[in-house]
Amino acid sequence: MQNPKNDLFLRACRRQKVERTPIWLMRQAGRYMKEYRQLREIAGSFKNYYKNVDLAVKASILPYTLLGVDAIIIFSDILTPLESIGMKFDFKEGEGPVFENPIKGKEDIQNLKEFNPEDVYFVGEIIKGVNQTINREIPVIGFAGAPFTIAAYMIEGRGSKDFKKTKSFMYNNQEDFKILLDKIADMTINYLSFQIESGADAVQIFDSWAGHLSPKDYKEFVLPSVKKVIENLKHYNKPIIHFTKGVCGFMDFILESNADVYSIDWMIDIKKAKDLIYPKASVQGNLDPMVLYADTDIIKKEAEYIIKSWGEDTGHIFNLGHGLMPDMDASKVKFLVDTVKEISVRRQ
Ligand code: CP3
Repeated sequence: MQNPKNDLFLRACRRQKVERTPIWLMRQAGRYMKEYRQLREIAGSFKNYYKNVDLAVKASILPYTLLGVDAIIIFSDILTPLESIGMKFDFKEGEGPVFENPIKGKEDIQNLKEFNPEDVYFVGEIIKGVNQTINREIPVIGFAGAPFTIAAYMIEGRGSKDFKKTKSFMYNNQEDFKILLDKIADMTINYLSFQIESGADAVQIFDSWAGHLSPKDYKEFVLPSVKKVIENLKHYNKPIIHFTKGVCGFMDFILESNADVYSIDWMIDIKKAKDLIYPKASVQGNLDPMVLYADTDIIKKEAEYIIKSWGEDTGHIFNLGHGLMPDMDASKVKFLVDTVKEISVRRQ
């Protein structure tokens, strides 16, 4: 497929020359936009929304038309592929995902079905639909959850603050836990391959809960499964972004996952992250999303800090350290995008 017309994001992922810093934002298509809420009303529920190709294409594109971001992440969820392997869940209003049949032991792991991309054909259609509708104007990012973050949902059965069930399972059933992560890794390889073959220009792996583990446990239980996913996607030659949260304590060996881009949270200074990661890989991040609750002069100051700290080199993609919140002000989000585009123009 031909390269997108604006390929700043892809060039920054590959550490090629850029005229300015590209920007996109996690959860950029979300409830903070009234246009998102209108489409959600038509769909009725979040699940109907992301399974409806027409509505999901429209939602995916909103941040491009309304904010002017440099990449579109497809509108979906990290849990989307799980119905194919036999997990049953729903999104409960005000709570998030809740599973009917969480994983309790070895037998549940053995009973998981093999992932079949045909069960999520709509994700492929969404990617194709976005590419067609925007006429390859900007790149499209596919995504999946990382094995640990997905396993945590499958075991907890819902969101959690302390991951008590997941960690108890990990310590008490060490081999089974590794088997589960390996199975999820296989599903993820298959799922992301399907997205790339449907036209995704890059993929992001969301390891949102990685920071809940000690470095030693992350290295032993989690890293091998992420590494396996990335290793098996390298042949596509598409940038692979590894998003982690709360891992500044093990930023050094997270690089072993061998991603092209590391998406980082705000708990590590961007300069320090650059020293650790660049030029081996690119860096995406790392504004604290809460800054968007402040006045525009503060938003500008905080964005400037990140842009100036990185400097004139390529290899930086501006993003948040985590997703936008539903009650954020869309005009401030637009202000951030405009500001980053304006202040990051390279002098040469
Ligand atoms: O970034 C994007 O805009 C792409 C779409 C996307 C969504 N979720 C849409 C969504 C992506 C990449 C995700 C990832 C995701 N989903 C993660 C990893 C990233 C992170 O935030 O840590 C996780 C942990 C989930 C699981 C999930 N999905 C939760 C906990 C919730 C409920 C939380 C909430 O805010 O209500 C969801 C639902 C969800 N996923 C919404 C959106 C826009 C809200 C749906 C709605 O009610 O309209």
